[in-house]
Amino acid sequence: MNIAVAGTGYVGLVSGVCLAQIGHRVTCVDIDPAKVELMRSGKSPIFEESLEQLMAENKERLFFTTDGAQAYRDADVVIIGVGTPEKKDGSANLAYVFQAAKEIAHAIERDCVVVVKSTVPIGTNDKVEALIRAELKHPVWVEVASNPEFLAQGTAVRDTLHANRIVLGVESERAEQVLRRMYQGFEDVPVLVTNRRSAEMIKYASNDFLALKISYINEIANLCELVGADIMDVTLGMGYDERIGNKFLRAGIGYGGSCFPKDTKALHWLSNYLDYELKTVKAAIEVNDQQKLKLLKKARKHYPGFEGLTVAVLGLAFKPGTDDLREAPSLHVVPTLVEDGANVHAWDPVAQERFQDIQDDGVTYFSSPIEALKGADLCMILTEWPEVIALTPEDFKTHMKTAIVLDGRNCYDLKQFMGTGVTYESIGRARME
Ligand code: UGA
Repeated sequence: MNIAVAGTGYVGLVSGVCLAQIGHRVTCVDIDPAKVELMRSGKSPIFEESLEQLMAENKERLFFTTDGAQAYRDADVVIIGVGTPEKKDGSANLAYVFQAAKEIAHAIERDCVVVVKSTVPIGTNDKVEALIRAELKHPVWVEVASNPEFLAQGTAVRDTLHANRIVLGVESERAEQVLRRMYQGFEDVPVLVTNRRSAEMIKYASNDFLALKISYINEIANLCELVGADIMDVTLGMGYDERIGNKFLRAGIGYGGSCFPKDTKALHWLSNYLDYELKTVKAAIEVNDQQKLKLLKKARKHYPGFEGLTVAVLGLAFKPGTDDLREAPSLHVVPTLVEDGANVHAWDPVAQERFQDIQDDGVTYFSSPIEALKGADLCMILTEWPEVIALTPEDFKTHMKTAIVLDGRNCYDLKQFMGTGVTYESIGRARME
């Protein structure tokens, strides 16, 4: 099939590349000429495992352009994968989606399905369809379908090629058949067909449930610290129950990224707008805001002020496997440390450069975790990169001035720290000395 994709962020680019991988001819459209040039040269603008390799393997059917009209004109399917950033009031900004829809309406010259892959509030697909039909320049059949994306950053290609489900939110048999044909190459993936509004809701309900699960376990972890229980044992015990499952129960310093924070706020905003208070989601948001500050609170018990202290911060990205900093706990922790007079020694294998653009003053960037630890009065672990997990109590003891380690991601076995002379505090577990 001939497929055009509007937007080359995580959703658009990964979907486009994976659809080329199963044999479609795919043209990816982006308004940024520099980004398009980069992709034409075989480079991915996002850090994502095996993406560049697939771009190279499929280069004869994968095209990149700034010329949307050209790409949309004779496409069988046009996918909208542009961003839906958060507005100041927590609602989703749909300006890019509507802009893309308008361009598509002006360009299409043959029957096609326009697929909304961006995460959009319930009811948006109806609006996109009305807009496209009102703006059409040629008398073609067009229908809008909701086809939410469930990939996670860091595992995006795998999550797409081996998805756990494909959700098709359609309003006609014809649109369903077009999309089934598009996904034919994704073997063994269950396909669920719903109406558009249910598909839109499945995306929000899934992300918000996962966010809720994390906030819940973070609260239980906080309580574990108060009552002397161990969160790792508690989650292990819970996970045996198949109704609960053992995934997404890792306690830490809160969820970040471009999805959970934005999607929880957007659904909460939408429910408020409809005069319904979504209490559980509201609680998940509040708990997460507090959880991001947890290491700072722990640190203040060791040092009432940070003036003149050297603090090693290991990990800046919101999770390993990505250079994305959106809503990362580091964005709260590092500026606070710097404001309070600390010299921050930061390390991250891929997000360092991006972080430096945001925060240069007061931070020295190092090329290895060990270098960052040297002479530190305190270490904070914000991302569970493999290089961090590989550190031993001996590394902290040898290189730090005062070996106090605050681990926001529970990277180590507690027993390792027993009698090592390192003060080790993590989330929901006993303090070790
Ligand atoms: C998330 C979902 O997992 C995807 O299914 C979804 O498609 C995507 O949002 C999206 O809407 O585009 P992502 O934000 O890339 O994917 O990352 P996750 O792996 O879900 O992690 C999100 C945050 O939760 C991270 O900060 C991570 O550290 C945190 N987390 C995750 C925990 O604190 N504990 C856990 O047990 C799991």
